[in-house]
Amino acid sequence: MVVVMSPEATEEDIARVVSRVEGVGGEAFVSRGMSRTIIGLVGDIESFHHLNLRTLGGVADVHRISDPFKLVSRQHHAQRSTVWVGQPGRQVPVGPDSFTLIAGPCAVESPEQTVEAARMAQSAGATILRGGAFKPRTSPYAFQGLGERGLEILASVREATGMPFVTEVVDSRDVELVASHADMLQIGTRHMANFGLLQAVGEAGKPVLLKRGMSATIEEWLMAAEYIAQRGLLDIVLCESGIRTFEPSTRNTLDLSSVPVVQATTHLPIIVDPSHSAGRKDLVVPLASGAIGVGADGIVVDVHPKPELALCDGPQALDGTELRDLAKAVRRLPPVLGRVSA
Ligand code: E4P
Ligand code: PEP
Repeated sequence: MVVVMSPEATEEDIARVVSRVEGVGGEAFVSRGMSRTIIGLVGDIESFHHLNLRTLGGVADVHRISDPFKLVSRQHHAQRSTVWVGQPGRQVPVGPDSFTLIAGPCAVESPEQTVEAARMAQSAGATILRGGAFKPRTSPYAFQGLGERGLEILASVREATGMPFVTEVVDSRDVELVASHADMLQIGTRHMANFGLLQAVGEAGKPVLLKRGMSATIEEWLMAAEYIAQRGLLDIVLCESGIRTFEPSTRNTLDLSSVPVVQATTHLPIIVDPSHSAGRKDLVVPLASGAIGVGADGIVVDVHPKPELALCDGPQALDGTELRDLAKAVRRLPPVLGRVSA
């Protein structure tokens, strides 16, 4: 942490900062410039926060140098992590040495629809199935998902296909139930800042797919990951799902720049969801290709055997031709970019 003194700061002001810092066991290194003095602090950053140094006389500014998130930061964990999803013996990696395609229906609607979507996903190269049993909907009148029945369907499709599955949990009261079925728990964009839910999934013992809140900065998103990590779980995969902007032609604007930023900042893997960010199937393959291009560790996409009948997000679900194009991109691009296809 660095304290910048104002040009008018007196020697007493400087001495007060030094003594407060030393009072909580820290060290203060004073560096006098032509017009300003800066003081570098070494020690426990949280105890410095409690000092409210900005309120002291002569202090112009206080800057944090280290990341506010610790457990997920690359500053203390230079090697990028791989998260393994699924039961022992048939686990799927998500991380820097692979490219993982996760695909499936937005919502689980029936056993037939889910197994068909899973087979489509598998034929396109997907190794993890996605599917919502608890759906976060804008309208309380919209389809809310099949709940526990949806989890049972996903579990039976896992048996049929061998694909581990990720599914969303929207309420901390359901975490235990969802974790008892799922291979990976998803926190959606609408719940990224639901701190009680983050803590609950951090204790559930299953890997977590943490989407970026649609209005969250990257730092807020990584602080959300820190909530999970603090509960002892580091098997977290981040998912860029777009952010709210003034542009109405897509649901959210896909912020592909977050991928390299996140990879430089945290050791956690990051994947991209072109389906939920665009909300339109015609953009899924171009955005997926872009995600592969910027070095994402995987993508998650919606597929549906009959998008026109989907109970949730039909306009973004792939079938037929687009799915074949997606499969082609996922097969060809990662190896060209130096990644081994999962
Ligand atoms: C939910 O799964 C969807 O992806 C999205 O959040 C649905 O939004 P809506 O309820 O506004 O249709
Ligand atoms: C989803 O993946 O089912 C979902 C609801 O996504 P998001 O949180 O990005 O809206």
